[in-house]
Amino acid sequence: MRLLLLGAPGSGKGTQATMLAKRLGIEHLSSGDLLRLEIERRTPLGAQVGDLMAAGDLVPDELVIDLMMPYVEAANDRGGWLVDGFPRTLGQAERAYELARARDALLERVVHLVADADQLVDRLLARAHKEGRADDTEATIRHRMEVYTKQTEPLKQFYADRGLLLEVDANGPVEQVNAEIIAGLGAGAA
Ligand code: AP5
Repeated sequence: MRLLLLGAPGSGKGTQATMLAKRLGIEHLSSGDLLRLEIERRTPLGAQVGDLMAAGDLVPDELVIDLMMPYVEAANDRGGWLVDGFPRTLGQAERAYELARARDALLERVVHLVADADQLVDRLLARAHKEGRADDTEATIRHRMEVYTKQTEPLKQFYADRGLLLEVDANGPVEQVNAEIIAGLGAGAA
């Protein structure tokens, strides 16, 4: 299976992707985690993206595409993938579509996690106390949400036009959201 999880910061992409990948036996690829790994390893890419990520801005399309596509292609050869956080702009979606089509690895479903803005901010501020991610200050969280609305939300229509979009209410508890995704995907019992 080849899946994308789409949703605003705090909507639960990472949480749900981890659970789903395990259940479906496919690889979970998180663009945010892979970019943070580049920063941690002090690679040239990490040096280029650190300030942008700390400010809550998106990394340029070509850098993310060059980072992510080799991971996606390798996971494709191993039986499937679930990507969380990429594509995130129309430019990324169009380029990823061309590259995936050439390799017979097109997305099969896009799960859009929809949650109220207040709930998103509360979740991320709660995480800030536990994990201290550089981009989890209140001002940066609000900026990330604006960036999401402007640059990522148009992807909903892009995927709806291709008949791939599954909308899921992500306001409830983690297990409930997970059950709704599984039911929507028709992924059956574990
Ligand atoms: P990324 O790491 O993708 O961050 P994000 O989109 O801001 O998402 P979060 O990780 O904050 O939230 P999430 O939706 O994954 O929720 P989670 O499960 O963690 O991206 C970070 C940055 O990297 C971007 O700003 C950008 O700079 C760069 N980047 C990444 N991809 C890029 C791309 N393609 N192009 C350009 N730049 C890119 O949950 C959040 C919290 O809520 C957790 O504490 C969790 O325990 C809790 N929670 C989850 N679900 C629930 C629930 N149902 N009920 C209660 N609490 C819950």
